[in-house]
Order: sequence, then C-alpha cells, then structure tokens
Amino acid sequence: MISKEMIEDLKKRVDKEALVSNMSVSELIYDIRTKHHKKELELMDFIIEDIKNYEKRNPQLDDKISETFGEFKRMTFELKRHFEKEEFEVFPMMIMSNVDNKELLLKISDLENEHGKAEERIVKMTKLSDNFSYKKEDDNLSFIYRKMQELFADISEHESKENGVLFPRFERSVSNPLL
Ligand SMILES: [Fe+2]
Ligand SMILES: [Fe+2]
Repeated sequence: MISKEMIEDLKKRVDKEALVSNMSVSELIYDIRTKHHKKELELMDFIIEDIKNYEKRNPQLDDKISETFGEFKRMTFELKRHFEKEEFEVFPMMIMSNVDNKELLLKISDLENEHGKAEERIVKMTKLSDNFSYKKEDDNLSFIYRKMQELFADISEHESKENGVLFPRFERSVSNPLL
C-alpha cells in the first residue's frame, strides 16, 4: 500500500529534480562542485583511512574483503582524477562561450565512460560484500560498509545530475543549435 510518507518522499524527489533541471549551467556546476565533489572527496579519504586501520588490525584479510577494499581503492584513485578533469578542464570549457564543441563533446563522452567504470566497480563491491552484509557482525567492517553506502548514494545522485541534466545541455546545443 502507498503510505503518506511514500507520497511525501516522491513529492520531495520530484521537487528536487525540477529544481535541478531549472538550474543554469553555472548553477549546476556550482552545485556539483560544492555539494558532491567536496563531500565525496572527504568521504573517500575518510573511508580509505578506516580501511588502512582495518588492514593494520587484521593482517590476514580474507579474499572477499581484500577484493572489496581493492576495488574501493581503485575507484577512489580514478574518481579523484575524474573530479580534477571536470573541475579544471571540462567545467571551465562549459562556461566559456567560444569553445570547440567537438572537443567538448569528446571530453563529455570520456566522462560518461568514467561514470560507467565507477558504476561497474560499485556493482562489483556490492556483490563481493554480499550487498554489504558479509561479516557485518564485525562492527568496524559494518561501519565501513555504512560509509561506503552513503558515498555510493551520493555518487549516484551526482552522476544522474551530470549524465541526465548537465551533459545533455551541450549534446542538444550541437545537434540542434536552435535549442
Ligand atoms: Fe562530477
Ligand atoms: Fe562526473
């Protein structure tokens, strides 16, 4: 049955999406940098620190945990470079008016591929950790899982703003310059 809370949640989500889709390119970029990049960088550093401490306390990690941590470290390394690419190369190009659109579109397509890669890694970590339940009776591990899930939820919202709202603004302007 649909509860009042579910309807309220849905309303909030629709309002939020409408707000995002009405933002200008500069407002979107500001929102992404200040809300998502900053928060995710902090969360990634925090989780990496926790993983290092966990590894120190448990030198004999089993395969599933060590592979989950390995995926997380690789994703963190790649996403940090991805955010830098966005902030220092692609976002400035999006704000400038006299840019080579072909070059911008190529860069956007690279970024979309990188989003796909991060999503693949998240799916892999979810499977490896049995949906974040593997050995979760270990409080330290279950804390790491909780923080990971918080980060992944933010990444998903962040990527849908880029793939679904920001990037299509440029794809549309090239295929139909009148829009
Ligand atoms: Fe981003
Ligand atoms: Fe991105």
